[in-house]
Amino acid sequence: MEYLKIKGTTDLQGSVEISGAKNAALPLLASSILASNTVKIGNLPDVADINTMVKLLKNLGSEVEVLDCNTIKINTQKLQETKAIYDIVKTMRASILVLGPLLARFGHCEVSLPGGCAIGQRPVDLHLKALEQMGAKIVIKKGYIIAQAKDGLKGATIVFDKVSVTGTENIIMAAALAKGTTTIINAAKEPEIVQLCEVLAKAGLQIEGIGSAKLEIIGRARSLLNFCDFDIIPDRIEAGTYLCVGAITNKKLKITKANASHLRAVLAKFEEMGYKILEDEDCISILPAKKIKGVHIVTQEYPGFPTDMQAQFMALATQASTPSIIDERLFENRFMHVSELNRMGADISLNGSVASIAPGAKLNPADVMATDLRASSALILAALVAKGDTNIHRIYHLDRGYEKIEQKLSQIGVSAKRFNE
Ligand code: UD1
Repeated sequence: MEYLKIKGTTDLQGSVEISGAKNAALPLLASSILASNTVKIGNLPDVADINTMVKLLKNLGSEVEVLDCNTIKINTQKLQETKAIYDIVKTMRASILVLGPLLARFGHCEVSLPGGCAIGQRPVDLHLKALEQMGAKIVIKKGYIIAQAKDGLKGATIVFDKVSVTGTENIIMAAALAKGTTTIINAAKEPEIVQLCEVLAKAGLQIEGIGSAKLEIIGRARSLLNFCDFDIIPDRIEAGTYLCVGAITNKKLKITKANASHLRAVLAKFEEMGYKILEDEDCISILPAKKIKGVHIVTQEYPGFPTDMQAQFMALATQASTPSIIDERLFENRFMHVSELNRMGADISLNGSVASIAPGAKLNPADVMATDLRASSALILAALVAKGDTNIHRIYHLDRGYEKIEQKLSQIGVSAKRFNE
């Protein structure tokens, strides 16, 4: 296993280029199952989760041509296997995204049931209930979701009890090849969903209400789509994380190839804390605060403050001059970073879903353990303001979603080196 050694420094300079969004790329890769032609995707982030989805699609029989580390061509015409095996699904929950398109195209599939994970139970009941409403017969056997819709899926009105990102994506892809119209009410509105809808619309799918909570999709009764080439949108969570690097060190930092309009709730919190934000086309700069103020954050679905930025803002809040409160409303157990931050000298207490962060912590370097993707980036942020070397273990979590992390950090003056345990 590898670990990352970060030397605390506040001496930053330069800018960081933002990669493509992992969470946009995953459903879009899965959507190639709906294509009649070869799909060319650019600006793919070179991260482990993307490799896992490509591996899964290859395992199902897709042909993949890697043009460079950020561009691939994928052809699913010869795809015949419809079983997404446990060995692959266990490494990435988002593998569930092949369920909707496989079932819609083939009328049957088996997908290993993703387990719980470090941030909570994360059930997929909403995905399954919606597919059943579209006519699927679903049983769970030996850890697999076995889904059948012999005569194809049928359009239906789906009202999601909770807003679910991958749930919405799965049903959009299922509805694309269903017979009749599907209306999704209480759909998620994340930019990643908007891109999925736009790519499918360009490929010939009739879809109304893109970007709203009500989507209407005219199913194509198993007639496949003809995709155009496209590039993945910038990763708003990677962008927010690097802005936190500037914020926690209280130095100017510029990120490029970003989309500020996807980051409104995050940018507003930086401003509330006293930082200045400058936007110039696809660049965003964060400028130091005179005094870093504490913050009150409630995580919500988009366009609210993203749960995927919660851990990073918690690390940042330890350096504020007044107390902060962070209320995690999406995932019941997304506080694994708290004990590691406290081991470094933070004073964070938990009461149910609410974390209270004491201001002005003097953070010390330590050996710490990454527990999930975003928790790991909070540890990097804390390491930057600790005097000395912090070793972050189990960095495979970081590699799931941050492209070239040590190169990007080194480029702005941070000593970040990877070692074997
Ligand atoms: C996606 C993102 C993840 C992000 C999360 C919330 C991807 C690949 N992952 O995860 O990075 O943190 O959105 O923005 O895009 N729920 C149910 N039943 C279900 C589905 C969800 O109860 O069938 C609950 C979840 O436990 C959670 C809430 O709904 O409490 C939202 O989860 P959801 O939006 O589905 O998260 P993911 O799509 O898994």
